[in-house]
Amino acid sequence: MSVKITIIGTGYVGLVSGACFAELGHDVICVDADQRKIDMIAEGRMPIYEPALDQLVARNVELGRLRFSNSTKDSVKGRDAVFIAVGTPSDGAGRADLRFVFAAAMEVANAIDQFTVIVTKSTVPVGTNHQVYSRVLERLGHPDAFAVASNPEFLREGAAIQDFMEPDRVVIGCENDRAKAVMERIYAPLTVKGSRLVATNIETAEMIKYAANAFLAIKVSFINEVADLCEVINANVNDVALGIGLDHRIGAAFLKTGPGWGGSCFPKDTRALLMTARDAGMPATIVQSAIEANVSRKKSMVERVRRMCGGSVAGKKIAVLGVTFKGQTDDMRESPSLDILPPLVLEGAVVEAYDPSNPHDAAALLPEVTMAESAIAAATDADLIVVLTEWMIFTTIDLAELASVMRTPALLDLRNLFDRGKAEAAGFTRYVSLGQTGESIGDLAIAEPSAAINQ
Ligand code: UDX
Repeated sequence: MSVKITIIGTGYVGLVSGACFAELGHDVICVDADQRKIDMIAEGRMPIYEPALDQLVARNVELGRLRFSNSTKDSVKGRDAVFIAVGTPSDGAGRADLRFVFAAAMEVANAIDQFTVIVTKSTVPVGTNHQVYSRVLERLGHPDAFAVASNPEFLREGAAIQDFMEPDRVVIGCENDRAKAVMERIYAPLTVKGSRLVATNIETAEMIKYAANAFLAIKVSFINEVADLCEVINANVNDVALGIGLDHRIGAAFLKTGPGWGGSCFPKDTRALLMTARDAGMPATIVQSAIEANVSRKKSMVERVRRMCGGSVAGKKIAVLGVTFKGQTDDMRESPSLDILPPLVLEGAVVEAYDPSNPHDAAALLPEVTMAESAIAAATDADLIVVLTEWMIFTTIDLAELASVMRTPALLDLRNLFDRGKAEAAGFTRYVSLGQTGESIGDLAIAEPSAAINQ
């Protein structure tokens, strides 16, 4: 049964969630104060880079299940649930800045005209939903007019629609039965297909979000540390990841080594969890160590580039493939490129980067880096190519063509995207990746059974 939903905030979380809720059959209004964003969407252009989002939005607008507004006041009356999906950036001390969350909550409080569930989908520190409740109650004066619920998201940029429509679980933190019934109706199209719904109290739901992201960040920092160790013991980190990931208690995901984690979530959420622990007078040494390991890893990548250039990058042209924090996104927030590329320019390198998403903020965030139109353009006359992101499109690049236009064909693969043999066959005289001094034999189980038998 269709639920009347309003989403406040049309960013990576709000716009994807709104379009997906509409796809599930609900009646959705997405609100954003920025009229330019609303206008862009009305012209069919997305304010964020998310594969297939434009078609999803267009289809549901066409079906009349999804519409957009820049007025919270006009979009909250007569709605069953209002989701707050506004940004919660880190403040200087690493705490989540909740100004936008509370401002949205008060706008809702001033406009609701029937029982409404105020759902916080933004990632907020433990205890925030109770603060939202207190502020709205103070404004409305009686507890029967509304309820609050925590409904954290687990959407990866670049895979957000899939993560929403095929969730490993939906987490609801709610202490009001009427509100819980509304949330169950909202997610019924997913739970009837077998998605698990974890219903718990509010603090637990808020904590699940932080614990999930912190654990994933720790897992990545762990495999990055293992990769460095593999380099000195003649092991191969890809095979280590394969060998441990096949253990169902570990799982294969998030075991790809790289230049360090970034984005709008891992850094912000690990810092916020640290602050929560500190405020509670509890240690968070494991999270702290993962953060420190990640900071030093990004610095160590600069040293790897220096080593590939014979000890100094002065006067060298360095071509970079990818400047976003990972592949399949245009997001540069806390991207490793922001820590790795400026020091190289300071040391006298000329850096030219190609990123398939052509991030709109690349020039502002990396003013000292030239953005190229293509990988070939960036590689022309370069002394080294550095792979910083695992864009799928990079795997179809003609390596021989890249090598042929370089001054010295050397490739530093910080995502283990390419294969040493193929790179050398394509003409690269030096190919260095992460954690792969030991040759990988790959996963024999995947090879033809006869091949394994004939070993
Ligand atoms: C993350 C969580 O995955 C998602 O559930 C949450 O809702 C938001 O934060 P996202 O920030 O889009 O999603 O990025 P993610 O795909 O998780 O990658 C985070 C960082 O870890 C990136 O810098 C990525 O390059 C890095 N990473 C990830 C690795 O280096 N290796 C891996 O195997 C996986």
